[in-house]
Amino acid sequence: MRIGEFKKRWLPKLKEARELDLLLEFVLGKSAEEIVLSNNLLLKKEEIVTLERMLSELLAGKPLDYIMGERYFYGERFKVDESTLIPRPETEILIELAGEKILRQLRDLLVVDIGTGSGNIVISLAKMLKKQGISCSENNIKFLATDISPVALAMARKNASLLGVSEVDFLKGDLLKPLEAILAKTSANIFLLANLPYLSEVVYHNTAPKVKKYEPRSALLSGRDGLDHYRRLLKQLKAGEQSGWLRKRNIYCFWEISPEQKDNLTGEIAKTFPKAEIVAHRDLAKRWRIIEWAMKAKS
Ligand SMILES: C[S@@+](CC[C@H](N)C(=O)[O-])C[C@H]1O[C@@H](n2cnc3c(N)ncnc32)[C@H](O)[C@@H]1O
Repeated sequence: MRIGEFKKRWLPKLKEARELDLLLEFVLGKSAEEIVLSNNLLLKKEEIVTLERMLSELLAGKPLDYIMGERYFYGERFKVDESTLIPRPETEILIELAGEKILRQLRDLLVVDIGTGSGNIVISLAKMLKKQGISCSENNIKFLATDISPVALAMARKNASLLGVSEVDFLKGDLLKPLEAILAKTSANIFLLANLPYLSEVVYHNTAPKVKKYEPRSALLSGRDGLDHYRRLLKQLKAGEQSGWLRKRNIYCFWEISPEQKDNLTGEIAKTFPKAEIVAHRDLAKRWRIIEWAMKAKS
């Protein structure tokens, strides 16, 4: 069967024509332009079998990225499966904002990603520095990432290795817990990045069925108002201030949120750390997405 005929057969069944093109690109290893020009190309039998299996999964509601087992994020291909959240385009804003600030500081930094999932945030930042020819060892820049889920961490480690990033240490545990000993010792300034679960019960309830069916609930839901994880992270940071490590260095935080949480989370941060400098950033659709906040070391 030729590609044109195959498309004619499947297109009426699909909601988005683009998804069929993406699957053809993926299975045949061709670019979007090549697929558009390949209507007369004969498909091999095994290609048809693979495509039909994937299309049946798509029709059953499985997200395309899980079917292909990968997702483009910040220009790189990340492996994903049902153990990790599919990286979202809005998280690229966090990379832009944090990356810009990291590039301005560039010495003696500890970059920490809490709730790393597929590793997309920390790996993208490490790659950004590499692409600019910046040596992390010469500039004393270290990367750490944590996740509570061992299967997510396995995927993050796999992505780091496939993408040629060896600078990140991935640790299992609750938020900052696995890092406490390291944080107590370091004299570096800290970048604390987090895209933690932040959906409230109501938002989670109204989320698309395929998200609820396929993506891990533990990566999405965070209590009644969606802020349980961030509140606990603030508590751990407060304990860090009381035990001393947080006071000895600057800390720069970039946390992704759901738009309606901006005032609540900003309020929680200000209540916990009255001296924090807090700024909120919007996405391209003008919805609040990132809370950036910082505290300077006390001399
Ligand atoms: C919203 S997902 C984000 C994944 C990834 N950072 C991204 O941007 O796509 C949240 C991640 O936090 C992890 N997580 C949930 N509870 C956690 C906890 N108590 N400590 C550390 N990680 C946690 C989940 O396993 C999940 O991988």
